[in-house]
Order: sequence, then structure tokens, then C-alpha cells
Amino acid sequence: MAEPAAPAPATPGPTRPEHWDAHYAAGRGFAPLGDTERRLLADLCPARAGALALEVGCGLGELARHLAATGYRVDAVDCSGEAVDRAAAAAGPDAATRVRFLRFDIEDDDLGALPNPAYDLVVFRLSYAFVRDRARLLRALGRRLRDGGALVVITPVAARTPAHKRHIALDESEIATLTGGWTQALRRDADGLAMLVLRGPVARDATTATSTS
Ligand SMILES: C[S@@+](CC[C@H](N)C(=O)[O-])C[C@H]1O[C@@H](n2cnc3c(N)ncnc32)[C@H](O)[C@@H]1O
Repeated sequence: MAEPAAPAPATPGPTRPEHWDAHYAAGRGFAPLGDTERRLLADLCPARAGALALEVGCGLGELARHLAATGYRVDAVDCSGEAVDRAAAAAGPDAATRVRFLRFDIEDDDLGALPNPAYDLVVFRLSYAFVRDRARLLRALGRRLRDGGALVVITPVAARTPAHKRHIALDESEIATLTGGWTQALRRDADGLAMLVLRGPVARDATTATSTS
């Protein structure tokens, strides 16, 4: 009698650091930061004096280095040790005063352990879709925005994403849920990615209307 097939080995999914470590260890990255993203960030979230940014899911650090070059001091975090090691090496020691890369899981680690208690800019690029408990994280990050600060999500949208990659994107209902908890929500197109710029987190039970433009 044939032996039953062995179970397939467990492959770390995209919510596990091991999945991302393997991606970066293979020398792979993700779509480079585009000119439209750079222009929109400069227009919508220019760094004021002393501005602090937190990048969540920084990968190889291209956006973090860009934000540092445009005037932010940046804490760039990623749950992948491979990513942060490679990002720090690419930035070099000279950048260390403006950007630091930390291995940190934004859902599982204590936000109180972040290097700064609050930020002018919190940005997710291609990483927000992987957050499991989005409502809890948004509330927590909203409390860590300085006055006038912005939470920016740059994300693929489901309608423009092949079905087998649906998990990397947000659909319109998920975008509405994300933008619904803020007094101001701007949406711009960045060469096919949605850039959502959110300001003024409202308490969960507040009734303040959100203006989206
Ligand atoms: C698709 S990559 C994007 C990387 C980078 N932002 C870019 O644009 O190239 C998603 C990144 O999010 C990171 N990530 C996923 N879940 C995370 C979590 N819970 N905490 C911190 N980083 C996370 C992954 O390790 C990965 O580097």
C-alpha cells in the first residue's frame, strides 16, 4: 500500500519575518521609489525644521534614505533582520545621524520601545497590506503623531493587481476603512499606486466627518 503523502513543508507566509528574510537574503528587493512618489511626498509632507519620520516596513531603505535627504530624521523599522542589515549597509555610517534602521515588528513589538514617542510622518510603502490587526495599529500610531502630523500609506490597489497577488494590495472597502478614521484624507495616484495622506486621527466613537479629496 502506498504511503500517505508527507505534508508539505510549512512555508513562512508574508506575515512572518522568515518570509521576508528569505526574500532579501536572495538579493531581491521591491519596486524602486518612483519620481511621482517623491514629488507627492515633497508637495504633501515637506519636512519642517526638526521633523521626525517613522517608516514602517522599510525593506532595503530607499524611502528612508530619501526622507533623510529631504530633511527628516528617520527611524526606519522592519521585522526582517536581513532587510535592516542591508539597509544600514547601503546607507553607510555617514547617514547614521539622520536615519537609523531597526529590526522591529510593528504589530508584535511594544511601540513604547520606538526611539521617539511621536512623529511628524509615519509612512508605510508597500507594507500596510501585510498588517493583520489594522484597526488596533492605526489607533496606536495615531496617538504617536505629532500635531499636524501625517500617516501616509503607499499601496497597490486590488483593482490593478493580479488575483494571485491580491494579498499585497488594498481594495476600495479596505481603503475606505483606512481613511475613515481621520479628519482629512487625501488620495493621489503615484503611477498606479495609491498614496493616502491621513491627518487628524479621530477617536473611534467620534462623529467628525472625514473630507476626502
Ligand atoms: C513588500 S515589502 C516593501 C519594502 C519597502 N517598503 C519597499 O518599498 O521596498 C514589505 C516590507 O514590510 C515588512 N513587514 C511586514 N510586516 C511587518 C511588520 N509587522 N513589522 C515590520 N515590518 C513588516 C517586510 O519585512 C518587508 O520588508
